Amino acid sequence: MQGYLNYKRLKKPLLLPNLTVEIGFGNGEFLTRMALEHPERHFLGIELSGISIEKLLREIRRRDLRNVYCVRLDAYWAFYLLFADESVETIYMNYPDPWFKKRHHKRRLTRPENLYLFARRLRTGGEIRLRTDDRPFLDYTLEAAREVEAFEVSVETLRPTSPLTKYEAKWLARGKTLWALVLKKIRPPREIPHPRIEEVQEVFPVRVPDITGLPMVLQKTFRLREGLILRTFRVWEHGEDRLLEVLLSEEGYVQKFFVFIRRRPDGYQLDVSGFSEVLKTRGIQEMLEFLAERVKG
Ligand SMILES: C[S@@+](CC[C@H](N)C(=O)[O-])C[C@H]1O[C@@H](n2cnc3c(N)ncnc32)[C@H](O)[C@@H]1O
Repeated sequence: MQGYLNYKRLKKPLLLPNLTVEIGFGNGEFLTRMALEHPERHFLGIELSGISIEKLLREIRRRDLRNVYCVRLDAYWAFYLLFADESVETIYMNYPDPWFKKRHHKRRLTRPENLYLFARRLRTGGEIRLRTDDRPFLDYTLEAAREVEAFEVSVETLRPTSPLTKYEAKWLARGKTLWALVLKKIRPPREIPHPRIEEVQEVFPVRVPDITGLPMVLQKTFRLREGLILRTFRVWEHGEDRLLEVLLSEEGYVQKFFVFIRRRPDGYQLDVSGFSEVLKTRGIQEMLEFLAERVKG
């Protein structure tokens, strides 16, 4: 599909020269406008919302844009998985979801480990450009940026004369204050502990002599190790084969898929089902081995 990147299949890191990234592009208006104004540059939008992705793809097709891509993924993991260090020119975040409550701060887009990773992927001299109408969010971001120690910081309030989106013009007319923050990378970030996962070339099936323990693993949560949590759901039976629905959280990166438990002449084989497209990770291999231990009687 034009513009849509399936990050699970893609050869990584992505090699797109002159790359600008927008995190949380919403209806895509800002991203497509930049792409139309700069056909010589590449633009990649990162979004969690499927509706936003669809809207952008419609616009990409309608205008036949060849320099815009999008990926449906949490911004942290998109930066973690897709880009090489020093490969992104500019990162835009316009009015990212503010997680108001203190207990939600660890989800904020500008938490220190995110800014650390964004800073690594930015080229030196590149910028994170963020706009917000939320003063506590701005203050939180400034504090996180200080922790990362990579940026020269500037903040200004938007004026009616600045180039504005439709919504911004409306908000300003209603007397709202809007802030524009620029974090310019001037040095590599200070190392900050951050979640990591390991992609592998292949996930290998695991064999077991029998599956008499299978009923005991259904509808349960297992902590395989620090950072690796497995939730099992129900199982479907097809002759002697089984299909088990699971959710695996690896350092907070979540995948939901099916484990195919296939009858073999000498027992059973556990593998990721062909119906499920997964990012192949070390955690999935560990999970298959863990399940194999549990399902054999
Ligand atoms: C309030 S909307 C702003 C949309 C648009 N930038 C604008 O200015 O109208 C925030 C957007 O960020 C997306 N978003 C929030 N957290 C995200 C994350 N961790 N990774 C990617 N997108 C995210 C949401 O799906 C939502 O579309």
